[in-house]
Amino acid sequence: MKTLMVTSGKGGVGKSTVAVNLAMELSLSGYNVGLMDVDIHGPNDHIMLGIDKPKIMTDGKRFTPIEVGSLKFMTIASAIENDTPIIWRGPLKAKLIDQFIQDTAWGELDYMILDFPPGSGDEPLEVLKVYDNKMDGAVIVTTPQKVALGDVEKIMNFLKKMKVPIIGIWENMSYYTCPHCGKRHYLFGKHTDELAEKMDVDVIARIPLIPEIGERFGAVNLFLTRSEGEVREKFEKAVKEIVEELG
Ligand SMILES: Nc1ncnc2c1ncn2[C@@H]1O[C@H](COP(=O)(O)OP(=O)(O)O)[C@@H](O)[C@H]1O
Ligand SMILES: [Mg+2]
Repeated sequence: MKTLMVTSGKGGVGKSTVAVNLAMELSLSGYNVGLMDVDIHGPNDHIMLGIDKPKIMTDGKRFTPIEVGSLKFMTIASAIENDTPIIWRGPLKAKLIDQFIQDTAWGELDYMILDFPPGSGDEPLEVLKVYDNKMDGAVIVTTPQKVALGDVEKIMNFLKKMKVPIIGIWENMSYYTCPHCGKRHYLFGKHTDELAEKMDVDVIARIPLIPEIGERFGAVNLFLTRSEGEVREKFEKAVKEIVEELG
């Protein structure tokens, strides 16, 4: 099994969007995929997957993941929303993350994708601990704003320190194409390359701003897996690169 972190220095840049679409794409390609939302402060992968109120399920011994097609999904949201005392008795979120990863009947997985909150807090440290400080790769999601760069640099330095291989930067909301004149507008600037060069990492995707994505948030929102044309090509290329890098 290959483990992949989807992370960033910033919130609201598209980490969950990338994690969910990547997991679904790999699952649709025939791989056995697990997706775990470890964003304790704002878990919303389930919303993107069209699950209203995720519940904790067990087979009596272990947690059983929610199945979306063949994708196996666990989310911190199911513990928070159901206010389940068994889990909250352990007061630390570390314990919760630990249990959700280790005590879940994931079955044989090819890929385990973990969607993180921004930054280098307890969550990545705890997850790293669960996997004996070995993760197979990380994808850093960012928008191309100058203001995002410092934070993204910090998380990359953290990953380097923890010896997590950085597969690349996934730039999101790179530009907006005017539906009338076809002109590309770089609303957030073009600052990702500066950082990529400085840190010596690749930019593996440049996904444009697509208004429908934001608008349809809350419904099943697997726009990337269902996209067509240019966006589909960019998405497929990025997924392929991730698969190749993970080996
Ligand atoms: N390429 C995009 N174009 C338009 N909206 C997007 C795009 N990517 C993400 N969004 C929207 O931006 C918001 C934040 O995305 P999300 O994936 O939740 O970010 P994060 O997990 O980093 O906080 C969501 O409403 C999402 O639907
Ligand atoms: Mg998120």
